[in-house]
Order: sequence, then structure tokens, then C-alpha cells
Amino acid sequence: MIHHPRRQPPLHIYPPHEWALVEREFMPEFVSQGETIFALGNGYLGMRGCFEEGGPIGQNGTFINGFYESWPIVYPEAAYGLASTGQTIVDVTDTKIIKLYVDDEVFWLPHARLLHFERRLDMQAGTLDREVVWETPSGKHVSIKSRRLVSMAHRHIAAMSFQVTLLNADAPIVLSSEMIANGPSPRTNGTDPRQGKVFSGKVLHAEQRVVRDHRMVLCHTTAKSRMILACGVDHRLDGGEILSWRTEAAEDVGRSVLNVEARQGKPVTLYKYIAYQTSRTAPPEEMCARAERTLDRAVRMEFGTLLDEQRRFLDAFWAGSDIEVALRSVPGCPSPTAMQQAIRFNLFHVMQASARAEQNGIPAKGLTGQAYEGHYFWDTEIYVLPFLLYTAPQVAKHVLRFRYSLLDMARKRARELNQKGAMFPWRTINGEEASAYFLAGTAQYHINADIIYALKKYVEIADDVEFLFDEGAEMLIETARLWQSLGFYSPDGRFCLHGVTGPDEYNVLVDNNAYTSLMARENLRYAAACVERLRGERPDRFERVVHKTGLRWSEVSEWSRAADRMYVPYDQTRDITAQDSHFLEQERWDFEHVPPDKYPLLLFFHPLTIYRYQVIKQADVVLAMLLLPHEFPPDLKRRNFDYYDPLTTGDSSLSPCIQSILAAEIGDLDKAIDYACVATLIDLGDVGGNVKDGCHIAAMGGVWMLYVYGFAGLRDYGGRLRFAPRMPASLEKLRFRLIVGDRLLEVEMEPAVSTYHLCRGRNLLLWHEDKEVRLSPQTPSVTMPNTFRWTAEPPSAEEAAA
Ligand code: BGC
Repeated sequence: MIHHPRRQPPLHIYPPHEWALVEREFMPEFVSQGETIFALGNGYLGMRGCFEEGGPIGQNGTFINGFYESWPIVYPEAAYGLASTGQTIVDVTDTKIIKLYVDDEVFWLPHARLLHFERRLDMQAGTLDREVVWETPSGKHVSIKSRRLVSMAHRHIAAMSFQVTLLNADAPIVLSSEMIANGPSPRTNGTDPRQGKVFSGKVLHAEQRVVRDHRMVLCHTTAKSRMILACGVDHRLDGGEILSWRTEAAEDVGRSVLNVEARQGKPVTLYKYIAYQTSRTAPPEEMCARAERTLDRAVRMEFGTLLDEQRRFLDAFWAGSDIEVALRSVPGCPSPTAMQQAIRFNLFHVMQASARAEQNGIPAKGLTGQAYEGHYFWDTEIYVLPFLLYTAPQVAKHVLRFRYSLLDMARKRARELNQKGAMFPWRTINGEEASAYFLAGTAQYHINADIIYALKKYVEIADDVEFLFDEGAEMLIETARLWQSLGFYSPDGRFCLHGVTGPDEYNVLVDNNAYTSLMARENLRYAAACVERLRGERPDRFERVVHKTGLRWSEVSEWSRAADRMYVPYDQTRDITAQDSHFLEQERWDFEHVPPDKYPLLLFFHPLTIYRYQVIKQADVVLAMLLLPHEFPPDLKRRNFDYYDPLTTGDSSLSPCIQSILAAEIGDLDKAIDYACVATLIDLGDVGGNVKDGCHIAAMGGVWMLYVYGFAGLRDYGGRLRFAPRMPASLEKLRFRLIVGDRLLEVEMEPAVSTYHLCRGRNLLLWHEDKEVRLSPQTPSVTMPNTFRWTAEPPSAEEAAA
């Protein structure tokens, strides 16, 4: 149930367009939201969609994934083992600024007389474009066209073009292309725990700078995390008579200022090439040289080539990752085109957050904002990975490899917490636990099982057993050890996990959270199965991992025993899974009398108040039913959903997508559609009212899931693909592609039939409901009737007669 007020989505400001978000007016009241929505990124580098003039600014931001500053977490009442060092992604050197002066009058959006304004996020070209016609105070008409990209092909490169054309007169113009480090801090409201930390002093300390021709490079370091950043820009001009061009740089500011005589009708175009390089070890000279080499390459390629490459990347991305829908209007949902636009917007941002993340994780906000400090959570493995796995398996592998790279730190953290094995941090950038609120942070032990769940799914779908045997086995052994040491046997022989927090952060430090216990059981079983398989199939690698981890064979049988005896609470009276051992004994939250403006509860009620009630922040048991469908018979799924759905506040953006999927599975398609609309519009509709702080990347990954796992009804537990379509009559067509091992499968569904088409690769066996579908190069397409009928849609006369 969504208990929030349904906000009036700002969607109406973006007219429906299948492939772009277009803003036709400069709206000062939407500056911050626009910065998020129009943000560009490639997973390594991200730039909020701020205006070229350097203002007006809501929250400026340029981010490099994993580039953070650390700070001591101060606890007025400290305790042993609490996270001691915070990590916050740094707002790095801003290179987006190009200021324009015509006849010495500055172009500044809030004051300018605008004859035309359009800003466009072009999701096919991968660019942010703006076209403006400005009438200067003396009546000159100036066309300003800018275009910006963060390159997918070259992760260290961004580029801009800025074209000025005098439409009705000649004029001297000045272009000031700038770069600024340590710009103004973002504004926060101070009470929202989801926002990032604001540093009081300078975060970036100048080390070195280079100025050469029209190029400038600034190198900075962070004081505590000792990270090094070199950022450079270079320029080329096309058109106009150059009167002067000076480029200079101080510690934190660089400016390249051109005086140009512009003639009526003759465009003057400035190209700005931008490079970011970061390191933990290389000295500043080396970093400046790296940035310069990147700039050399960007300049040599020219803007046109960068644009072409970007388009090619996007073409390939959409060919493999699009979700195409043909919808009929649904009351309460935006128009069909607006829904298609919103779906693509979500996929586009997930791609921007992940494509070139490579040795890093995927921050909760991608690189669109500083909220959640640029940290990586379970969001990646549970909400984003399914999309990556089926559309960009290489990126999914990077994400898992990144977790593997943190394994030693996770081992250390387990020791600190008096446990065995490895314990991955709830939130982190560098691998250390950075959650200062352990109740809803470190206590979410389930992140360990979530990582393993994602690993298992990756291995099964991508058919990458080498990864399992190389990195996976070690992660499995250490996480299984964690569960083994964390749990204990009750006198009646049940394996219990006490003092844990499940996904629902409104119930903390509980005993036997069902989600955690079920996922831990998976983790233990998969660990046992993996080492047994490894011993049988690759004795040499088995020996290696035994040597590295000190594994004793007796441990393996202990894991299986713990898994078999894992206690998952069940309420016999209500005949439902209990969220934890005590949840159902608590008083029910007074939904009837708490007004909608008191949500999200975390901003209006003390945690102790919230923790006393049956009230849920986000899908917990309901999520377990999606991830581990075989654990719940169909009638139990329905009972669980009916019980927990009304208690779920919608205070987290991670819920509606999951609720939609489960509602579809149990056949409540009205609810499924309702949740799907909310989920699809989480950011474009600003459902949570905080899109200004950045995109909700997990929820965006959840949008892919809700169409594929929800309406198409995919279940893939154990690597076996089974579709049980739940196509509402309003969804006339749903089409998407999945990479499965070395095959490419296209799925096209209509309310009555589903077609499976093998576009590439060898034979593929899948299930449509309970029927086998065998695809092969000889029989690449099979169409099957959908047997599930939406009860809201009465059967036709013939169907009824049949
Ligand atoms: C949710 C977590 C999530 C985090 C980052 C929190 O509000 O409760 O589950 O990991 O946001 O997205």
C-alpha cells in the first residue's frame, strides 16, 4: 500500500516522447530536479545536469565513482566495533562551465529574455542538448546551442560543444570556459539522513597544474583518503574571428577566455574536451601526464567522432536492453507514450550508473547526486544485477569481481565483529563499513547472502562456472562460515539467527528474520554444493582454495546441517510466514490516523516509536517470495502478500517494483499495474519528493524487473527460465531481449500469446507456464497461448462457451 500523498508528478513538464526528455521552458523551481533528471554519466564519471553558465544551481555535482574523502565518525557514546570512518563521494572539479557575454552583457538564464528554450536528454544519442534564443538588452538575438556527453566508449572523457550564432546583428562575444575545484557545497536540509555529508573546508588540495595553449590541467589530492585527481580541459574553436584567447589557471580555478568577433548568421563553436583521471598511488606529475594524454586523444578524435561512438554504444545498448511496451491508457497512469518514455528513462540511468563502473560498485544514486554518500549497498546485487546479468553480463561480472576485491576487508570485519568467515559492509566505498547507524546498517547481515544470491544467478545464467571456481568459491566459503558462526542451535535443534535486521529497516535487531534466514540457507547450501563440485571437477583448484581458506571438510557438513535446520518462523494461526519471531506480536501501526504528510515515517517519528509497531519500510517477506519462489506454495504467497502489503508504507523506493511483481504473480493485476505506474515514475514523477538528491538506481533496476519478472512472469531460480505471463489487457505488447549464456532470446508477449525467438546461439530450453519450449537454430521461434486470464477482463463469448 502506498501511504504517501500521491505527489503531482512534474512529469507534465516533459511532454511524452519515446526517446527523449524534453524541457520546453526554463523553470527555476525545478532546477535541482532537472539536474538529476538531465544528469549524464558512464559509471565512472557523472555530471549533474547543471546549466553551462554555472548557475542557477540547485546542487552542483561532478562525481567519479569511488573517489571519496574519509572522515572520523564521532559517536558521543562510542561502543566497540562501530564503524569508525565515514566515506563520502567527492564533488570533484567542475568542468561544465562555459559563460557567454555578448556586447559585454552576461547570459544568465534567470534574467535573460528568452525567445526560445529547449533542453533535451536524448537517450538514443546519449547527449544532453540545449537550444536557446536570447534577446540581449540591446535587442540582439543570439542562438545558443550546446551539447554535452560523457563518453561510454572512453570512460575518462567528457566533451561539450557550445555554438553561438548572432541572428540579427554582429557583436563581439566573450566565451569563458572554466573549471572550478572546491565549488560551493551542496545544500541539504540537515535532517534527512539520506543526504550526503557536507564538508566544512576544502576537500580537494591543489598539488600541481599545467597550462599550455588552450589547455589546463589541475591536480588535487584528498587529505585523508589520499586519493589523487587530475582533471584537464582543452579547447578548439570553429568560426568567428579571434581577437584574443587567454588560458590561465590558479590552484582551484582555470579559465580559458576567448574574445571573438561574431558576424550575423555565422556560427561560432567552442569545443571543450574534458578528461578525468584518478588514482590512489600515482604521483601528481604522472596524473597530469595521464590527463594530458587522454586530452590528446579526445582532441584528435574530435567531437564528431565522440558523438558517433556514443550513438553506436547507445544503439547496441537499446538493441539488447530495451523494454518495448504497447499500452492502452490506464486510469491513474500517465499516457502510454509517457510510460514508454519513463521505462526508457529508468533503463538509461541504470546504464549510465553501471556501464563503465568496472573496478567499482554501483552507488545507490549512481553518479547523479551525493545522497547516500556515493555508497554501495545491497541495491546492486538484488535490484540492479538482474538487468545487467541479462543485458550486459560483462558488467554484472565486474560488479561481482568488485565484491571479491573486498573479501580480505570483509574477513577482517568479521573478526572485528567476533565472527568467523567474512562479513561484507552494509554500505561502503572502499570496503570498510561506513554505516554509522548499526541497527539499520551493519546488522543487515543479509547483504552477504544477497551477494551470494547474485553470484549464483550470474553463474547459472551467464554459464560462467570458471568465475564460480575462481573467485566465487572463496566468497562462498567465507560467507558460509559467517552464517555458521552467527547462528546457534536452540534447545529443540533449530538453527537460529538472532539480532539481525532484514531488508525492512523499520524492524531492527530482530530474531529469525525470515528473509535473512531463507537467504542464509541458500548461501550455506550453495557453498556446500560448490566445494563438493569443485573437489570432484577441479581437484587442483579445490586444493588451492583449501590452502587459501584453511577449509576443513567437517565445516561443509556443518553448513548443510545448519541449512537443513534453519529456522524460518511461521505463524500457524494466520497461516503466513512471520517476518521475524516477534513481528506479529507487535501492535499494528495506526495507518488510519497517521496523515499522509507524516510519511516517510523516518523523517517524523523517533526510531523507537517506529520499531514498536507492525509497520514495514520496504518489501521483506514479499521480496523473499520473488527471490526464492520455490520456498512458498502459491496459496501462501497470496496470504503473505495480503497480510504484508497493507503494512508496507512505501517509504522506500525499493518496494513498489517488488510489490508489483508479486501482485502480478498472485493474479491481482489491478494492483500490479498500480504499483508498476508508481515504480516506473519513482524519479520522473518524483514520488518520494527527493529526486533533487539523485536518481534511485535500485528502484530503476526494479523497473526492468517488474516488466520481466512481473508481467512476463520470468522465474529463473536454478538457472531454469520459466515464464508465467501475467499480461493485463491494457498491456497490448511487451517485448525485451535476454542474454542467456551465449544465446540471445527475444520475448514478445501479448495478452493472449507469447512468442519466444532465439536470435543467436545454440539450443535453448525454457518453460512457458508448465510447458517445455525448445528453441534451436532450426526452430528459432515458438508461440504459445497464455493460459492466465485476467479476471477483470471477462472472457469472450467463445471462450466462455469453450
Ligand atoms: C533502503 C535500503 C537501501 C538504501 C539505499 C534505504 O532507504 O532502506 O534498503 O539499500 O536506501 O538505496
